[in-house]
Amino acid sequence: MATITMTVNGSEVSAEAEGRTLLSQYLREGLGMTGTHVGCDTSQCGACVVHVNGQAVKSCTMFAAEAAGAEVTTVEGMANADGSLGVIQQAFQDHHGLQCGFCTPGMVMSAAALLKDNPKPTEAEIRDYLEGNICRCTGYQNIVRAIMAASGQEVPGAIAAE
Ligand code: FES
Ligand code: FES
Repeated sequence: MATITMTVNGSEVSAEAEGRTLLSQYLREGLGMTGTHVGCDTSQCGACVVHVNGQAVKSCTMFAAEAAGAEVTTVEGMANADGSLGVIQQAFQDHHGLQCGFCTPGMVMSAAALLKDNPKPTEAEIRDYLEGNICRCTGYQNIVRAIMAASGQEVPGAIAAE
């Protein structure tokens, strides 16, 4: 065991980890930050996506030790400072971009990475970017709509926010 220190959502944090501890485990079990979900542990589902030094990463594909000293952002860091939902989170809520919600943290983090690099993506670009994120519930349509809305674009056929 070793103490691994990194910056998560702007705060320096430390927790014990073994050499084999995955970043996803470190966040959930070491820090108790369970917003990052683990759907497969085999790099398939994308539920565990976080940002490491600004890059979207499946946190089950990386050892915690590899992220020592890094700047990590999780879905908990996507909320506004007052605790209200951030823009992408709010868009998912407004456009019914989730059902069970299991995939949602990864979807939100992938969407944030996409919009950082491509602030006005087309529907095709959104669908292409989400290739590594599996959703078993929604059929993706409302997820795509939510990301279109979060980018400030018109949302064709949108379900109106209530
Ligand atoms: S838990 Fe990491 S990709 Fe599924
Ligand atoms: S909302 Fe259930 S897996 Fe996506």
